[in-house]
Amino acid sequence: MKVSFKELGLVNTREMFAKAVKGGYAIPAFNFNNMEQLQAIVQAAVETKSPVILQVSKGARNYANQTLLRYMAQGAVEYAKELGWKKPQIVLHLDHGDSYELCKSCVDFGFSSVMIDASSLPYEENVKLTRKVVNYAHKYDVTVEAELGVLAGVEDEVSSAVSHYTKPEEVIDFVKKTKCDSLAISIGTSHGAYKFTPEQCTRDPKTGKLVPPPLAFDVLKAIEKKLPGFPIVLHGSSSVPQEYVDMCNQFGGNLPNAIGIPEEQLRKAAKSAVCKINIDSDSRLAMTGAIRRHLAENPGHFDPRQYLKPAREEMKKMYEHKIINVLGSNGKAR
Ligand code: 13P
Repeated sequence: MKVSFKELGLVNTREMFAKAVKGGYAIPAFNFNNMEQLQAIVQAAVETKSPVILQVSKGARNYANQTLLRYMAQGAVEYAKELGWKKPQIVLHLDHGDSYELCKSCVDFGFSSVMIDASSLPYEENVKLTRKVVNYAHKYDVTVEAELGVLAGVEDEVSSAVSHYTKPEEVIDFVKKTKCDSLAISIGTSHGAYKFTPEQCTRDPKTGKLVPPPLAFDVLKAIEKKLPGFPIVLHGSSSVPQEYVDMCNQFGGNLPNAIGIPEEQLRKAAKSAVCKINIDSDSRLAMTGAIRRHLAENPGHFDPRQYLKPAREEMKKMYEHKIINVLGSNGKAR
């Protein structure tokens, strides 16, 4: 049986993105695959009064089950209301949809937004598949994110060894032909906690820390010029906070040379037409660091609630920090 996202109390991205582009901030798109992450995301969104996008990746669907995740998102809306958010602005988004059938099933199942990622296909095939998904999704007022250009890195089952920046000369034709609602672009971000090799970085002479290459703001600017006011999306935007990497390593982990996108660069991007920023790895690092620390300090604990509670608190702190200090979406919920 088909269900509309509207019946579930979810919203699509249309109005949210228009406001974010105008207001010079970005909406957080946080991936989730378990209850503690979802609780932390909702609590952070309610407390900071930020609209939020809950993202479900292919890996999350395989891990947690697509049906369960959808009902969890529906539960998130009710939970947000219980926490005092009268009209929650929560989007349920399919991250990296790889086929028409999958996108269609998500539309039919109550998702309010889907991504069709056909960026690895030749240009004309990307256009064709994206257009097909848009045609179906728009019948139900579901918004569609598409992608042009290729990000490097590994994220769940999406991976590529090399990146290709989005070509600004293609964007007008692509958006016109596909009628997509937002466009994910490649300007040097990358999926995962190892976004750059040490060889791609320089070293800060004072701290000895690795400094990653800057994002291609010239490409972003050229795209904005071609598509004024059109919503742009950045994937692979975890900053891989050193404090969480250290926390993991200090308590038995082994994450050498994990490196992300500096937060100042994301802040700068959020002030432009970039209106959706995807963050997944930072949540994994916060959760794992907190669990490792807790178990190392409390070797007798075996009730998962004992170590998941501090992990949830650490994730919430991280989500709030991103919303307030990086994306600037705090206070933007109606
Ligand atoms: P990170 O791996 O940088 O968190 O990126 C997540 C992402 O882009 C999900 O689509």
